Amino acid sequence: MEVEQLRESMKSILKETRYQHVIGVEEVSIDLAVIYGCDPYKARVAGILHDCAKHLTDEELISECEQYNLSISEAEAKSVYLLHAKVGAAYAKAKYGVWDKDILNAITYHTTGRPAMSMIEKIVFTADYIEPNRKPLPRIEEIRFVAYNNNIDIAVSMILENTINYLKSIDAFIDNRTIETNEYYKKYTKVSIS
Ligand SMILES: [Fe+2]
Ligand SMILES: [Fe+2]
Repeated sequence: MEVEQLRESMKSILKETRYQHVIGVEEVSIDLAVIYGCDPYKARVAGILHDCAKHLTDEELISECEQYNLSISEAEAKSVYLLHAKVGAAYAKAKYGVWDKDILNAITYHTTGRPAMSMIEKIVFTADYIEPNRKPLPRIEEIRFVAYNNNIDIAVSMILENTINYLKSIDAFIDNRTIETNEYYKKYTKVSIS
């Protein structure tokens, strides 16, 4: 499908603020693909589709998992919204004709990340956090700076740290995959930025 059509589909299913977020993620994904030498088309398709199941209710997410034969982890059973990532990847394939494994993985892992992500996965994970339409988050300017200045692993690590701190502060359940991803990427925070 053409990117224009994908955008139109997102505009019709998502609420306006979510759609603006999606457009922001698309733009930042293209920027980062250029900076890190990835295919900008793949990055933008993943960026446009990453939240394509975000409009579903918890009940709908669970029934779509049954429909598409997707397993539900303990973490996902506790925090059902996490499922929008894997249901989104199933939709990308079934409804939008995306077969590229890297794009599908970028959608699947955009919320928790995973250890040893591919560059496209890191790009979408980071773009989801730093796109300009998001409300201000701690250290956001610093994270943007490192992401746009050849240190995407540091950006990933800072995002994970922020996310974990935030989830702890509201006493929310933390997915084990987020913790594992943080363990994997935290070595990059040791690199000094000048
Ligand atoms: Fe999402
Ligand atoms: Fe998102």
